[in-house]
Amino acid sequence: MKRLIDKIALITGAASGLGAADARLLAEHGARVVITDINHIQGEALAAEIPGALFLVHDVADEAQWISVLDQVKQRFGRLDILVNNAGFVNFSTVEEQSLEQFRRHLQVMTEGTFLGCKHAIPLMREKGGAIINISSVAAVKGIAEVFAYTAAKGAIASMGRSIAIHCQNQGYRIRCNTILPGAHDTPMTAKALIELAGADTDALTQLQEVGQGKPEDVANLVLFLASDESRQINGAQLVIDNGETIK
Ligand SMILES: NC(=O)c1ccc[n+]([C@@H]2O[C@H](COP(=O)([O-])OP(=O)(O)OC[C@H]3O[C@@H](n4cnc5c(N)ncnc54)[C@H](O)[C@@H]3O)[C@@H](O)[C@H]2O)c1
Repeated sequence: MKRLIDKIALITGAASGLGAADARLLAEHGARVVITDINHIQGEALAAEIPGALFLVHDVADEAQWISVLDQVKQRFGRLDILVNNAGFVNFSTVEEQSLEQFRRHLQVMTEGTFLGCKHAIPLMREKGGAIINISSVAAVKGIAEVFAYTAAKGAIASMGRSIAIHCQNQGYRIRCNTILPGAHDTPMTAKALIELAGADTDALTQLQEVGQGKPEDVANLVLFLASDESRQINGAQLVIDNGETIK
C-alpha cells in the first residue's frame, strides 16, 4: 500500500547516500519528490530515474538559496508536506586540531542549514500540516573525539527538533518535527570516513566494516514512517537507528 499519495516532499543532500534512498522510497510511496543538493551531476541523474522528481541546485548553508528553492516549490506545487533536512558532511579533527573555519562550516551546513530549512518551510507547510524530519547522528549522544565539529553540529540539530515541534504545536500548525540519529550506514560518506580512520591499514578497515553497518534503505524506512500519518503521535522525538551500538 502506498503511504504518501500526492504528498510533496523536499529532501536536502539527496544526490547521494541516505538522501537518495529517501527520495527513491518516498517516491515509490506516491510522493512527488524535490531532490536538492550542491552536487548537480548526481542530483540530476537521480531525478531522471524517479518519475515526477525535480532536482534543484541548493547549498543549504545559504539562506537566499533556501528562499529561492522553497519559492520554486510553492510556484510548482502550492505547498510542502514533508521536509527532510539531510545534507551533511564530516571532517576528522579532535578539539585540539579543529580549525575555527572548519568548525564553523560544520555548523553552517548542518545546524544553520537545518534551522533555515525549518524556518522557511514552515510557512509552506502550516496550512495543511506536515512532517519535518531532521537527520542528526549518534554523534549527538556519544563522545567521538575524532569528529569534534560534527558532534557539535549534530547535537544542536537534535536539540532544535524539540523546540520546533513544540513551537508548531503551540501555534496549532499540525506540523510534526522528529529527529533521526543514525549509526553507521553504508554510504559514500561512511566509506570515505572508514578509509580515513583506517588509513593504509586494511585489517583495521575490514574490522571497521564488520562493525555492522546498516543500509541506506534502513534509514529511509524510518523516514517513510515519520513522514506518513502512521506516526501521527510521534512528535519531538529522537530516534536512534544503530542496531543497539550506542547502548553497548
Ligand atoms: N551514513 C551514515 O552512517 C550516517 C550516520 C549518521 C548520520 N548521517 C547523516 O546523514 C546525512 C547523509 O549522509 P550520507 O551518509 O548519505 O552522506 P553522503 O556524502 O552520501 O551524502 C551527503 C550529501 O549531502 C550533500 N551536501 C553536502 N554539503 C551540502 C550543502 N552545503 N548543501 C547541500 N547539500 C550538501 C552532498 O553533496 C551529498 O550528496 C548527513 O547529514 C550525515 O551526517 C549519516
